[in-house]
Amino acid sequence: MAKDVLIEIKNLKKTFTKKTGNIFRRKITHVHAVNNVSLEINKGEILGIIGESGCGKTTTARMIMRLMKESSGDIIFDGTNLSKLNDAQTNKMRKKMQMIFQDPYDTLNPGMRILDIIMEPLNAHEKGLSYEEKVVRVQDAVEAIDLKPAEDFIYRYPHQLSGGQRQRVAIARAIILEPLFIAADEPTSMLDVSVRAGILNALLSLKKKMGLTMMFITHDLSTASYMCDRIAVMYQGRVVEIGPTKKIIHNPSHPYTKALVSVVADLNYFIENKESIILDGEVDATIVHEGCPFVSRCPHQESSCHSHPPELEKIENQHYVSCHCHLDINDQKLPVSL
Ligand SMILES: Nc1ncnc2c1ncn2[C@@H]1O[C@H](COP(=O)(O)OP(=O)(O)OP(=O)(O)O)[C@@H](O)[C@H]1O
Ligand SMILES: [Mg+2]
Repeated sequence: MAKDVLIEIKNLKKTFTKKTGNIFRRKITHVHAVNNVSLEINKGEILGIIGESGCGKTTTARMIMRLMKESSGDIIFDGTNLSKLNDAQTNKMRKKMQMIFQDPYDTLNPGMRILDIIMEPLNAHEKGLSYEEKVVRVQDAVEAIDLKPAEDFIYRYPHQLSGGQRQRVAIARAIILEPLFIAADEPTSMLDVSVRAGILNALLSLKKKMGLTMMFITHDLSTASYMCDRIAVMYQGRVVEIGPTKKIIHNPSHPYTKALVSVVADLNYFIENKESIILDGEVDATIVHEGCPFVSRCPHQESSCHSHPPELEKIENQHYVSCHCHLDINDQKLPVSL
């Protein structure tokens, strides 16, 4: 593992088993939520994860955070293989990584004051601190995320804050233990557009001040292009393209990434040319594909796309794509000015 890598994910898989039907006709289906993902997250970078609903973004983050165990594969965090830790060791490791969720309503206990909500991780992991010291730490975290003065906010309950303020409280709670890594799972998608930029900028400034490494999950390519150093594009549980943000935006090479970019860059162009960009269809994670998982929606498919899955292949410095026919479609004109 290179010394500038904080997290290395190797061949990560998560399969959920679903039972449907009744006792006479039991049907078991397997959902391949994450299917052989390998990637690295460098120290101090923001890696964006984008892709449509159900492609495995949250499941990947939850496995890194140890909120869920992988079916197979390895996650190496700061030199430690998380899959090999026992419960006590995992609990210790949790201090170094925190997650911010999409909906602050879900994550903040409505019956607790903001002070007590943010203090909870300190109570669990910093038992040597006095109550007064913990209050100071809470105040510092709250002010670091621009809820100032802290005393105006910490004695309130979640329902006495706006949605944007609640998400700032969730962020303060995530940074209180000074973690190395934060996974932010669509942290602004439930918020009013007017407060989104404030939250994004606050995350960027915290990242700089604290030297944080982040995984930033979003559906929105323009948010990813604003926030992220590199972007990984997921489709049906796999990473289909990964590279520096500028290369993903200006030289998208997987047909799915091209579709994502063109829909944001010029909606009219996308609507007029949809048939040649992406075919209609939905993600079905219960299907095991012999060939490329994108084949049923790809307008450029050739015979090899049906016979075997493409590997992630290096196409330029730091830029990888998993597509049999990316060379043939590279000259396809698309509007790519985000
Ligand atoms: N606990 C679970 N039990 C069964 N299936 C699950 C579970 N969690 C996720 N899945 C399935 O795994 C797949 C990936 O889900 P995941 O939540 O990771 O997607 P996502 O990319 O985060 O989607 P979204 O953008 O909608 O949040 C989906 O098909 C989902 O239905
Ligand atoms: Mg999700």
